[in-house]
Amino acid sequence: METMTEKPITQFIVWDGKYQIGHKVIDRQHQKIISMINQLFEAIRSSEGRQSSQTILKELARYTNIHFTFEEKVMRKINFPEYDDHKKLHDELMVRTLELKERNAASDLDISNEVLQFLKSWWLNHIQELDRRYTPFLG
Ligand code: FEO
Repeated sequence: METMTEKPITQFIVWDGKYQIGHKVIDRQHQKIISMINQLFEAIRSSEGRQSSQTILKELARYTNIHFTFEEKVMRKINFPEYDDHKKLHDELMVRTLELKERNAASDLDISNEVLQFLKSWWLNHIQELDRRYTPFLG
């Protein structure tokens, strides 16, 4: 039975239709990444501790790699002319994400609002501005 006392869940990033680029698999992958950033936010907000943030960061790094590999394959298949520049941005973010994971594991970094804001703006900008650029080539 539902109770009336449950607190509404505040999401750090609310997924919106405007973030969809029109590729079913890629949209699903983006949504999953956003959901992981929300989980990270929730873990920090509720002070679940380093172990929890580490588990989420590990999964975020693993899944980011899966997504980039898939998306790069799609871009190569459609001969997207901006492939090299786009891949460079992926590589840079991958390095940053792995660095966050390593530093957090080594207790060298607490996941702060700054880190969360960085991930939020990187992903929302990238999805809306840059991933959208290859969609006319999808056919
Ligand atoms: Fe969906 Fe270029 O990352």
